[in-house]
Amino acid sequence: MGAIHDFIHGLPKCELHLHIEGTLEPELKFALAARNGLELPYRDAAEMKAAYAFHDLTSFLKIYYEGMAVLIGEQDFYDLSFAYLAKARSQNVLYAEIFFDPQAHTGRGVAFATVITGLRRAQLDAERVLGIRSALIMCFLRDWSAEYAMATLLESLPYKEWIIGVGLDSDERDNPPVKFRAVFARARAEGYLLTMHCDVNQTDSLEHIRQCIDDIGVARIDHGVNVLEDPALCAQVLERKLPLTVCPISNSFVTNSSQFAAIGKMLDAGMGVTLNSDDPAYFGGYISENFLLVQRELDLDGARLKQLCANAFEAAWLSRATRDAYLARLADYRG
Ligand code: HPA
Ligand code: ZN
Repeated sequence: MGAIHDFIHGLPKCELHLHIEGTLEPELKFALAARNGLELPYRDAAEMKAAYAFHDLTSFLKIYYEGMAVLIGEQDFYDLSFAYLAKARSQNVLYAEIFFDPQAHTGRGVAFATVITGLRRAQLDAERVLGIRSALIMCFLRDWSAEYAMATLLESLPYKEWIIGVGLDSDERDNPPVKFRAVFARARAEGYLLTMHCDVNQTDSLEHIRQCIDDIGVARIDHGVNVLEDPALCAQVLERKLPLTVCPISNSFVTNSSQFAAIGKMLDAGMGVTLNSDDPAYFGGYISENFLLVQRELDLDGARLKQLCANAFEAAWLSRATRDAYLARLADYRG
C-alpha cells in the first residue's frame, strides 16, 4: 500500500449519497434470511454475488429490491445500519447522511415504525460506541405514485426529529421531479431539507435537473453529472452553490461510460462535487475505494482530495459550528 492509499484512508470524510439498503452485504443477507426463516435461491455469498449482473439503473434496482426482502424486524434494520456505520468509521467517515427507502418496506408489509426505530437505535449506538455521527434522509420511490409518497410523508411526521430531509430515488424513466411537486412542497413546509436523484444519462436528464432547481428548489442534487452538457445549468449550479453527490463506482456499473473526466471538470469549474458510494454492497466499493479510483484516474494531489472532502462537509446539512469543526479538522490533516 502506497502513501496515497494511506493519505486517502486517513482523510476525514463525509458521506452524503448512501442508500442503507444498498449496504446489505451477502453475508448479512444470509444471516437475516436464517433469522427470519427465509430460503435464498443461492448456495452461498459467492454465488449470490455472481448473480449481481446489472448494466443499467433498471436492472440494478431489480436486484436491489429483491435483496431487501430479508429485512423484516427492527433488529434487522439495526444490524444493517450498525454494520454500515462501523464500516464507514473504519474508513474515517466522521459524518454520514443516509438515505432510506421506507416504501420498499411498507410496500411489503413492514411497518414504518419498525424501519425507523431500528435505524435510529443503530445511529445512536454508533455515535456513542464508534464516534461516527449520522442523519437520515427519507427517499420516495419515484416509480410509485405521488399519492403513496404523500402518505409516506404524513406517516413520517411523528418521527420528524429523526429525519433531516427527503430525497427521490428509484427508476427515473418517465418519473420527473415535478410528479412530486406537492409532496416536496409539503416536505419543505414541515421543515425537511430537499434533495433528489438525477441519475446519469437518463432520458430527459437535463430537463430533470432543471426541474429540480427551478420547480422543486432542491438544496443539492444526487448524481447530476449531466449538468456539464448545459452551460446555463452549470451557471445555475455555480451561482446557487448547489452541491452534487457523485458516485463514481456506481456510475461505472449503471452507465456505459465512466464519469471520471466529468468529476475532474466539475472540480476545475469550482462546483461542489462530492464523492460517495451509493450502494456499496452491490457495487463493491465503499467511500475510500471511490476516492482511490478517482485519484488514480485523475491523478489528484492531496489538496484536490481534501477539496473533495471539504465540498462534502460544506454540502452537509449541519449547523455552521459543527461544519466548521469538521472543516478545521480536515484543514489540519497532513496524512
Ligand atoms: N438511483 C436511483 N435509485 C436508487 C439508487 C440510485 O443511485 N440507489 C438505490 N436506489
Ligand atoms: Zn443513489
